[in-house]
Amino acid sequence: MKRTHHCNELRLENAGQEATLSGWVHSRRDLGGVIFIDVRDREGRTQLVFDPQESDPVLVETAGKLHSESVISVSGKVRQRPDDTENSKISTGQIEIVAAVIEVHNAAAVLPFQIDDPEAAAKVNEELRLQYRYLDLRRPEMAHNLRLRSKVATATRVFMDGEGFLEVETPTLFKSTPEGAREFLVPSRISHGEFYALPQSPQQFKQVLMCAGVDKYFQLARCYRDEDLRADRQPEFTQIDIEMSFIDREDIYALIEGLLKTIWKTALDYDVPTPFPRIAYREVMDRYGSDKPDTRYSMEIVDFTENFSTSGFKVFSGAVERGGVVKAINAKGFACVTQGEMESMSEIAKGLGAKGLAFIKVENGEWKSPIVKFFSDAEKADLTEKLNVEEGDLILFAADEWLNACEILGRIRQYAAGKLLEMGKLEIPADQFNFLWVIEFPLLAFDREMDRWFSSHHPFTSPVQEDAGKLQSDPKSVRGQHYDVVVNGVELGGGSIRIHQPELQKTVFEDLLKLSPEVTQARFGYMLEAFKYGCPPHGGIALGFDRLIALLCGADSIRDVIAFPKTAKGSCLMTDSPAAVEVKQLRDLHIDLKVAKQAE
Ligand code: AMO
Ligand code: AMP
Repeated sequence: MKRTHHCNELRLENAGQEATLSGWVHSRRDLGGVIFIDVRDREGRTQLVFDPQESDPVLVETAGKLHSESVISVSGKVRQRPDDTENSKISTGQIEIVAAVIEVHNAAAVLPFQIDDPEAAAKVNEELRLQYRYLDLRRPEMAHNLRLRSKVATATRVFMDGEGFLEVETPTLFKSTPEGAREFLVPSRISHGEFYALPQSPQQFKQVLMCAGVDKYFQLARCYRDEDLRADRQPEFTQIDIEMSFIDREDIYALIEGLLKTIWKTALDYDVPTPFPRIAYREVMDRYGSDKPDTRYSMEIVDFTENFSTSGFKVFSGAVERGGVVKAINAKGFACVTQGEMESMSEIAKGLGAKGLAFIKVENGEWKSPIVKFFSDAEKADLTEKLNVEEGDLILFAADEWLNACEILGRIRQYAAGKLLEMGKLEIPADQFNFLWVIEFPLLAFDREMDRWFSSHHPFTSPVQEDAGKLQSDPKSVRGQHYDVVVNGVELGGGSIRIHQPELQKTVFEDLLKLSPEVTQARFGYMLEAFKYGCPPHGGIALGFDRLIALLCGADSIRDVIAFPKTAKGSCLMTDSPAAVEVKQLRDLHIDLKVAKQAE
């Protein structure tokens, strides 16, 4: 029995024709001996009728015993459904097939969870869904996500091809260059005691491809990072990875704006306005307290350092004296904050090193707060004016070193917005996408624990030209030619114009990042050498493909747009990986496990 149609195809015009459908038993109803089955495939659903008046009783009996999700092929005649039994919810709702022949390919056992009812399915716990991922992926929502992902991958390839890019595959057996995230290591059997590493990104290969004259490279590249996982992070994930020669930042902005415009149009028929706004790192931190701000709501951070520099409230004036800042936000309408919510916010502030989180509740025309008594009338007037303080507002303060104060209020801003959204006091349309570029990041950041500078992005980023002279004398003031593209509070991608002069690259490794010449040579010697034999100026970017698809699907977690994702503990519940291996395999790899598994 070969199928003639997909389950979404038959219409009233097909009435009277013979058809064969193949698929899964989506649902089965027995109405006084007449069996109705909705057969489902990837494309849709069609109703089958097994009526003892019209069909072979053996056939009706077979149909009557089928469990949900059994796989069948059925042939029969298409007919119009009786008037009052039409189903306007499905595309084939005007017809049904009177079954004449059935073949049961696979009779399904009782399912571990129900998948035909979207509400019931949404309540199934995620571990069970991941263990039986093939069932989970049959749910229309998940099938939609996979389909959209495929469509966007194709649109990306077509767009990039049109722009003259070559798709080049780079190795996934690479070597360890521990500068960024923790890596996954792969022991070599042939070279005793040596290891490959899975690449965190194709960064080094794509730069070498520029030395190879490829000019415009892209890849839907698989990347591996052994990080602590969250909703927006997986240990293996996909990037739209891009590198170009003889370009500057403007070329990257234009290319990515064009690509994202095409993707949003293809996937959602949504017109992304371009060019995207550009905000410098310093400003974005000052206003939103995050380098990936959600600009769909304002609640911007306001600076009060000047206003409180000589305040009678010592927590504030003291912070200013120590070179810090005083900042505040107005969470409009959040004076109804509960004790628990206030404690959660306090914990956020304390987690970032603050002693507390000063606040003012504006209720019944009064400023309720343990600290207001320390404020002068002028200070109160400044607050009212700059924060537009009104009845029902909640003002929250951070007095700290600049970056800390920004980050504390950035997190508080997000928390408050989440609560206000839940209460319906803040509205964000579901189909609003606020794209922006964050630019002019500092090239380096200082790690207090390690007592050394490290690259804010990666060590291949070129300094902004006019700051290059300050690399040795004042490294912290040097800005990098780095850019991030941000949407609705999600860091979608990042990249930079690269260093292409071997001397400058060596300076960054050895003088700024304090790698010894031996380590520099062992890790990056081949790159420095490649830069000596004709390296064009170049730059690029990588977009997180999973995050991009999650945004398009409105998914809360990137796990919902990855066919076989890992749990937060890094395991695949379906295949039960990672798993122990046999002693012989370890012996071949010259590995001697010190930590024996308890079970053994
Ligand atoms: P970066 O490390 O910023 O840059 O990564 C680029 C984008 O990849 C996505 N991403 C992730 N997605 C899912 N799970 C993860 N664990 C994960 N980590 C990162 C993010 C991020 O913005 N080689 C450079 C790019 C360049 O300079 O061209 C790089 O990898 O969306
Ligand atoms: P204290 O004088 O230490 O009791 O603090 C008075 C108020 O200021 C309390 O509500 C604290 O939570 C708050 N507070 C303390 N340190 C900070 C800070 N760095 N930024 C904002 N508020 C603070």
